[in-house]
Amino acid sequence: MQFIVIFMSFDIFILYKPIITMQNKRTEAPAALSYAHSYDEEEYPFEIAKQPPIIIGRDEEDLQKYGAKGTLALGKHIVGTGEDAHLTTPVLLDALRPHIIVITGKRGSGKSYTLATIAEELTKLPDNIAKNLCSVIIDTQGIFWTMKTPAEKDYMLLDEWKLKPIGFNAHVYVPQGQAAVFSKANVEFDDSFSFAPYELTAYDWINVFGLDSNKPLGMLLLKVIKNLRPPYILEDIVSAIKSTHGWEEQKPALENMFLSAEEWGIFGESKAPDVLVPGKMSIIDVSLTPESVRALLVALISRKLLQERIIARRKEELADVQLISSVRRTPLPWLMIDEAHNFLPSDSTTAATETLNKIVKEGRQPGITLVLATQRPERLHPEALSQADILLSHRITAKSDIEALKSVMQTYLLFDIAKYINELPKLKGTAILLDDNSERIYKIRVRPRQSWHAGSSPVAI
Ligand SMILES: Nc1ncnc2c1ncn2[C@@H]1O[C@H](COP(=O)(O)OP(=O)(O)OP(=O)(O)O)[C@@H](O)[C@H]1O
Ligand SMILES: [Mg+2]
Repeated sequence: MQFIVIFMSFDIFILYKPIITMQNKRTEAPAALSYAHSYDEEEYPFEIAKQPPIIIGRDEEDLQKYGAKGTLALGKHIVGTGEDAHLTTPVLLDALRPHIIVITGKRGSGKSYTLATIAEELTKLPDNIAKNLCSVIIDTQGIFWTMKTPAEKDYMLLDEWKLKPIGFNAHVYVPQGQAAVFSKANVEFDDSFSFAPYELTAYDWINVFGLDSNKPLGMLLLKVIKNLRPPYILEDIVSAIKSTHGWEEQKPALENMFLSAEEWGIFGESKAPDVLVPGKMSIIDVSLTPESVRALLVALISRKLLQERIIARRKEELADVQLISSVRRTPLPWLMIDEAHNFLPSDSTTAATETLNKIVKEGRQPGITLVLATQRPERLHPEALSQADILLSHRITAKSDIEALKSVMQTYLLFDIAKYINELPKLKGTAILLDDNSERIYKIRVRPRQSWHAGSSPVAI
């Protein structure tokens, strides 16, 4: 029986292929699509109609090789408009290769929710795949800690999707100096993290203080840090400023900046969050950290991630060349950043800009996936937008934002993106999905979360 099914699927593929190539380019996806392949019934998400699913972000070679293995069940395809709109086939997202995914949409349209759905799906992958991946969520609003709690309140909606409420094994980290505040607010966390002042480069300090390296304060800072030898603490930096010859006008201001850094609550011994662990979901809660310092934390965490993956990739490639299979693999991280325009803005530089841009440009080789959520695509760095291979846009209304989406996804210029967005049923979680790989655009509904969502707006009654 198994044989026949595989054979039939292959047959369908042959029949479908020419049609796909003709219809595919720059058109809306046909209702039942795309690449037919054998599909194990048990793996089928949401247990709905046994049509071939839509697979986003996977090229034809991988489709042939892996079918739907290693995909995240993101939601379902919406077919039709207005009252005729209905949900059809599952929409699956490739998790085997690195991607740059941009999630956008106006306030309350479902960006953080979708981010969490992706994180849930990563941990639901079969063990042999999940162990090669891990996720890191940068939580700017303190809303992801509830991922541990099942979404019992949504059991009816979940039931429509043949899903159940589940709590996930998320590991929540808070800055060491703020642990007491979190505890007092009854926010559950698992561990705290801190960085040592000597782990910051002179340019990290320049960016976090908002200085200019060509102006006297910035120049003094560069000079002081350059002459210090690790390990050193904040007091050592202040002493070094005091004992610098000259610069009398600038010294008090710079001393004060470093003294105030003590209050950020992020400095201590070097204890970075341990995120590169097979299958682990880490949540870095930066909600109580000042804006500029958040970017510094993102810089430090993502830089470490990038460095470790670059080293690991070299070892893995060497092992592949020498046909050694026993090498311990460092998982491929999915770095998910909510409110990403604050870290990688289009019009200014933050402490995180350089590292994030590096991941955008070079992250494919070390295998880092970046998921950036933002209310305003127009305010996100153009490099991130133009390198995105998957773009999920919930409802947006600002003309400038629609233009920003259009201008980056050049291949979609023939689509009237605004029309697609306007056609979306007025339901939470609906979005258009642009897949650069197949050059297609889909209307989808993101599946409901199985864990508790803490980002809803409060009601006054
Ligand atoms: N796929 C979905 N299915 C069902 N409900 C959803 C879905 N996506 C979002 N929602 C609902 O919409 C609300 C707002 O979603 P979310 O908090 O993700 O908005 P947001 O776009 O991140 O907003 P903000 O820009 O203010 O952070 C959620 O509380 C949830 O109730
Ligand atoms: Mg949000």
